[in-house]
Amino acid sequence: RCQSSSMEKSKTSKRNIFDNASNLLTNLLSGNRLGTMPTAEGAVSDLFGRPLFFSLYDWFLEHGSVYKLAFGPKAFVVVSDPIVARHILRENAFSYDKGVLAEILEPIMGKGLIPADLDTWKQRRKVITPGFHSLFLEAMVKVFTNCSERSISKFEKLFEKEKCEMKEIELDLEAEFSNLALDIIGLGVFNYDFGSVTKESPVIKAVYGTLFEAEHRSTFYIPYWNLPFARWIVPRQRKFHNDLKVINDCLDGLIRNAKETRQEADVEKLQQRDYSSLKDASLLRFLVDMRGVDVDDRQLRDDLMTMLIAGHETTAAVLTWSIFLLAQNPSKMRKAQLEVDSVLGGEKITFECLKELEYLRLIIVEALRLYPQPPLLIRRALKEDKLPGGYMGSDDGYAIPAGTDIFISVYNLHRSPYFWDQPNEFEPERFFTPKASEGIAGWAGYDPGRSPGAMYPNEITADFAFIPFGGGPRKCVGDQFALLESTIALAQLLQKFDVQLRGTPDEVELVTGAKDSSKFANWLLAAPAHTGVLIHRIHTSQKDDASPITARAAS
Ligand code: HEM
Repeated sequence: RCQSSSMEKSKTSKRNIFDNASNLLTNLLSGNRLGTMPTAEGAVSDLFGRPLFFSLYDWFLEHGSVYKLAFGPKAFVVVSDPIVARHILRENAFSYDKGVLAEILEPIMGKGLIPADLDTWKQRRKVITPGFHSLFLEAMVKVFTNCSERSISKFEKLFEKEKCEMKEIELDLEAEFSNLALDIIGLGVFNYDFGSVTKESPVIKAVYGTLFEAEHRSTFYIPYWNLPFARWIVPRQRKFHNDLKVINDCLDGLIRNAKETRQEADVEKLQQRDYSSLKDASLLRFLVDMRGVDVDDRQLRDDLMTMLIAGHETTAAVLTWSIFLLAQNPSKMRKAQLEVDSVLGGEKITFECLKELEYLRLIIVEALRLYPQPPLLIRRALKEDKLPGGYMGSDDGYAIPAGTDIFISVYNLHRSPYFWDQPNEFEPERFFTPKASEGIAGWAGYDPGRSPGAMYPNEITADFAFIPFGGGPRKCVGDQFALLESTIALAQLLQKFDVQLRGTPDEVELVTGAKDSSKFANWLLAAPAHTGVLIHRIHTSQKDDASPITARAAS
């Protein structure tokens, strides 16, 4: 058995090498067959010094909303048009897969929803989506509130510890939000308390380790890591496999435990969506209880791993950017605090309160507009397709050969001067006004009429000019989870603290990719509630420190 499994591995390695080589070839050929599409010639220097999506924005203004980006013989189609995005994501979604993204993520997420092949995806999406039922989300409000309280009380203790007259303390809020989001994902998805607000988690260090490796791999055409023995010989491959083992052992333990503690009484409650009396309302409990103990452990592990990665830094980033934007707009921060005071009046948040925290919700949405993560959605055409001309493209549209790699630039769409008034300004109020009658500029408007019951503007209300969670069948399953979680965390923070940026906003860099904890920057201060004096001190970051304030826009 040993021998055949190692032969199997070596066959898989060879297959992967051939697959990659043939993908590359198909891509090169498809690049040549993109016909009359406007072309931006990328210089290699465009890839360094600043994130690629900034250059994609400049080229969008220069070449239009569908253009070909050629780096030597390699070509990508860059889409910044809502109609074309809607076509790829929704109308013709199954003619595309995740292409290069799936290749990078598959070694970590296996057959989890993001990289999964179409057949697996169809099966798993059907099972997972009901887990995010609105009553589950209501039950999660308690988890979000308790975890946020833990962070707040940590900040309060810091003030007490300082015993200071001092009205301010200095905090790395980006790191704090990252810990908070991790604790929430741990409890909400697998009923596991990482406790990362108060201690460092070896599991999460391992998660970052694997993400770094995924990023590193994305820069290589030849998958040397699939060569026999690479995982034993190459130190970074050894580390990658050790990191994976740490995470997998943790997840396997949780799955085992969930299966062993399965109780019929809980199953009945879940069937009736009675989350209120369940001790463990996590998604894992749902997946195990509703599917029985025979559910495949490997698939469950891939699902959990995917959600751990997809739902953690994304949420931390939107919170970080929201605070970054509010810190530069004290009058908007004050307005948000007034709303929090009038709705909560010092009490705890409930699901009902969230409906009234409208300004807070729109702050989160506006932060997602300005700093979407991921800033690009990646697709590869599985067969020939014809892209519609879109609003600003050619009337005839564009033929897309099979194998074409496509970037849908969420960043460009969200900052498009064609759809948003003053696109680079932080203006949560913009979503208050439905402007549908004013032509395409009205797409910036929030028209709940298009999506009744939506508490937050979404891709439907904005007709794909706003797609922070993607759209169509592969849209984020955790969007409402993330939005509620972020609103609650922000409300609780603003209920108690003012925030101020230390240094200047232009010292803040956008970086893409997994976080390098050694480059974490201290950057924000929190001070006692707005009953007291505002908090204000910020680390003046040294310019040569690689990332003064980093909020990731990880793709
Ligand atoms: C997919 C964004 C939070 C789980 C996606 C996609 C986007 C996205 C843009 C679509 C990717 C594509 O089409 O290529 C975000 C943002 C979040 C967030 C901005 C936070 C602010 C979460 C959370 C979870 C989650 C909290 C889980 C608890 C997933 C999963 C997918 C996904 C499983 C794959 C869906 C599929 O392919 O069927 N996310 N996400 N995300 N997200 Fe999220």
